[in-house]
Amino acid sequence: GHKIVPSSPIVVKNDPTLLFTNAGMNQFKDIFLGNQPAEATRVADTQKCLRVSGKHNDLEEVGVDTYHHTMFEMLGNWSFGDYFKKEAIAWSWELLTRVYGINPDNLYVTVFEGDASEGLAFDQESYDNWLMHISADKIIRGNKKDNFWEMGDTGPCGPSTEIHVDLRSPEEKIKVNGAELVNQDHPQVIEIWNNVFIEFSRQASGNLVPLPQKHVDTGMGFERLVRVLQGKSSNYDTDIFQGIIQQISSDTGIPYGHDEMTDIAMRVMADHLRAICFCIADGQMPSNIGAGYVIRRILRRAIRYGYTHLGIKTPYLYKLVPSLANQFKGVFDEIENQKEFIAATIESEEKGFLRTLQLGISRFEDETRDEKAMVSGKLAFELFDTFGFPKDLTNLMAAERGLKVDMEEFDKLLAEQKSKSKSAGVSSQGDWVIIAEREAPTEFVGYDVLTAPAQLLRYRRVEKKGTEQYQIVLDKTPFYAESGGQVGDVGHLKFAGRQLSIVDTIKENNLILHVAVEEPSAGDTLVLAEVDKSRRQAIAANHSATHLMHSALKNVLGGHVQQKGSLVGPDYLRFDFSHPAKLTPAELDEVEDIVRAQIRRNVALQEQRELDLVTAISQGATALFGEKYGSKVRVISFDPEFSMELCGGTHAASTGTIGNFLIQSETGVSAGVRRITALTGAMADQAQRTQRNQLNQIGALLKNPKDIVMAIADTISRAKQAEHAAEKLRMEKVRRKAEELMNEKQEIGGIETLVAHVPIDDEEEGKALAFHLRKTMPAVLVAIGGVVSADKAFIWIVVPAEISKM
Ligand code: SER
Repeated sequence: GHKIVPSSPIVVKNDPTLLFTNAGMNQFKDIFLGNQPAEATRVADTQKCLRVSGKHNDLEEVGVDTYHHTMFEMLGNWSFGDYFKKEAIAWSWELLTRVYGINPDNLYVTVFEGDASEGLAFDQESYDNWLMHISADKIIRGNKKDNFWEMGDTGPCGPSTEIHVDLRSPEEKIKVNGAELVNQDHPQVIEIWNNVFIEFSRQASGNLVPLPQKHVDTGMGFERLVRVLQGKSSNYDTDIFQGIIQQISSDTGIPYGHDEMTDIAMRVMADHLRAICFCIADGQMPSNIGAGYVIRRILRRAIRYGYTHLGIKTPYLYKLVPSLANQFKGVFDEIENQKEFIAATIESEEKGFLRTLQLGISRFEDETRDEKAMVSGKLAFELFDTFGFPKDLTNLMAAERGLKVDMEEFDKLLAEQKSKSKSAGVSSQGDWVIIAEREAPTEFVGYDVLTAPAQLLRYRRVEKKGTEQYQIVLDKTPFYAESGGQVGDVGHLKFAGRQLSIVDTIKENNLILHVAVEEPSAGDTLVLAEVDKSRRQAIAANHSATHLMHSALKNVLGGHVQQKGSLVGPDYLRFDFSHPAKLTPAELDEVEDIVRAQIRRNVALQEQRELDLVTAISQGATALFGEKYGSKVRVISFDPEFSMELCGGTHAASTGTIGNFLIQSETGVSAGVRRITALTGAMADQAQRTQRNQLNQIGALLKNPKDIVMAIADTISRAKQAEHAAEKLRMEKVRRKAEELMNEKQEIGGIETLVAHVPIDDEEEGKALAFHLRKTMPAVLVAIGGVVSADKAFIWIVVPAEISKM
């Protein structure tokens, strides 16, 4: 009776506690917390996960061992306030032993032993249920670290019961009892199933607050399951990874299974490729901050392993993208659908990093040329910090030259930097002050009205980079929270007797947070929420123009154009999209013409709020990769034949109100991604007027010529001629002066020398004179000085090559 739901994107938006999806339960966080009702109380899925940052970070193990991954698929079934421990335990056992046929003799289970410091008791209920399936000696009690699952520092959590499988040989099993190896990092005794009984919410203060309902959260690693079912001793030996590994092996001519370091390198590359491809497919480009930086680091780790251990010195990983795309076809089509774009992005990152690696290696060689014993920690840190060299690469290079690295100094510098960057971005969050209890997402009424009466439900204090803010939750609101590229609304909350300015509106999962710089008071319960209307209208015009431009770009450039990012504000719009080349002026004109034609047609907005996702897609609505869509979606069309997109943003009632559309710039953002910025309405009018006025001013300066471009070209060429003439005169002067000076040379200490004080007009002249003297008297030591103005004097010294060797 479980409903199968799609994976949410691997990159998380709208949740400040997470950069990436780290567990199957993330997309259901709000249901667990009671902020959002469940569409079905039983669901199941496979979720793309990434564990490389935050609470769950496996990066350093990946590739080195045989059962951790950065990106992996987590299979799960969920109960939202429906079945609980008894059923979850019975069904997990039934699926593993009877459906998948795993020998029950090889299975062990763990249950939570309780934790006095948290006031949590032993999980007797799970224990009793397990006794119906497995003998007591195979039930292991685990502590909070192993058997109490938490998503992050805050959020849903609860005790868990895990199933572990012992894949060792019969001989080994006789020697050591499997029960002793559970949770001991043994590569052949591994967890494959986790049932978490979500009962609490961890607060920022560290307190556990019981949830209104109890839930089941299951996690089963797909790659581990396949390993068990295919009888392999490593996840990487399954057909999930072997295709890519064999391709690397045949391209490099190095067999897999031949040497530990080359094997690790192949595993790292095969694993990281998946992480990188899925993140780029879901819209996250490598960059220098946040999630983008994490991806860049994963990519560099893969490049570096290939470089150091497999001798791959030119871009290579991108060549593996088509195979990966093919492998996931029919399961996760996002890679296949964007494979050229993904490959181009990876290739350009590879090029850049390989160049940096080369520079770093030269730097290392220069610095250590005369070194006999030790590479300084400072150099190792510079290579790490500036050139992206991991410690082991520096260690390896040092070892190759018989040197050691001062790791103590390196660690000290690293720790210093870490503490510096930690204190730079501090933000702290207070716990919620609850004014009224309610378990539902904020109702958004801002598609229809810009003013609405509402009730204050709760607020909390947040400190970011030293400034304090208050985040306020209402039961309903006309304020649009920043999402889908559209900026958050600003406005006022009017309480009886006072009003709070709202400076931004943001989203945290399904909660809409109104950001104020003043604290609401206890009496502030009923409120009139008012959005700044003219600002919102300007934003709406820019958002609708973005849709029109998106369609126009597809018409002019082709169907490969995919939205890669967008910013819709009150002043302008910015749109990033995939396209391999710079747009020509003619293409830009055509895009502008098409959008303007649609504005003049004054097409009415058509909005469908609760359309079935499947219906919307089949009608041809544009969906974005990396967006999380529910089963019901909102569709925005301006003439369904021209523009139809899934969108949660706010829009102009008809295209005519956009008024005007003007492209401001077209630039490249990264390999294969272009960026257009444009203006609409009054902002576009103003920009055009400014341009016209500037042109008029230029015309006036040039005495209003008929052809202004010709006139400017003419002026430039005349200026050049004049410069040439002046240069000629100067050289003539310099030549004459040099001739005079030649007679003044004398012998000082056996060296022919010329010392003179010369009258000069400017620095250029003195320099030219010095160079001229060097040319005419290459063996003479020249020292000339000249005064340019009251506060500026120069001395030029020319030392003949002969003398500089003395
Ligand atoms: N959330 C738990 C885990 O990630 C079970 O899905 O292990």
